[in-house]
Amino acid sequence: MAQVSMTVNGTPVSGEVEGRTLLSTFLRDTLELTGTHVGCDTGQCGACTIHVNGASVKSCNMFALEADGAAVTTIEGMANADGSLGTIQQAFQDHHGLQCGFCTPGMVMTAAALLEENPKPTEAEIRSYLSGNLCRCTGYHNIVKAILAASGQEVAKEFAA
Ligand code: FES
Ligand code: FES
Repeated sequence: MAQVSMTVNGTPVSGEVEGRTLLSTFLRDTLELTGTHVGCDTGQCGACTIHVNGASVKSCNMFALEADGAAVTTIEGMANADGSLGTIQQAFQDHHGLQCGFCTPGMVMTAAALLEENPKPTEAEIRSYLSGNLCRCTGYHNIVKAILAASGQEVAKEFAA
């Protein structure tokens, strides 16, 4: 076992982990931040996406010890200070960007990374950026609409639900 320390959603945290403990496991089981979902544990679905030092990362693809000293943001850190939904979260709600919601935390975190890099992405750029995130429910149209809306862009009529 080894000690690991990091900042998660602005709060310093630490814990004991094994060398093999995944960052997703540390977040969910040790810190009880269960908003980060685990859909595959093999780096394919994107449900576990978080930000590490500002970069979008699949937390099942990283050991907790690799995040020692890092600044981590999870879906729990995406709400406004008063607890209301953040801009991207609200857009997902407004545009019906989720059904079961299992993929949603990862989608929101990936969308946030995209909008940080590219504040006004095209539909094609959004679809390309989301290629590492799988949704089993929505067919993606409403997710793309939500991200367009979150970026302050018009959602094209032919896109309307
Ligand atoms: S749980 Fe990490 S990519 Fe699927
Ligand atoms: S909303 Fe169900 S997996 Fe995406």
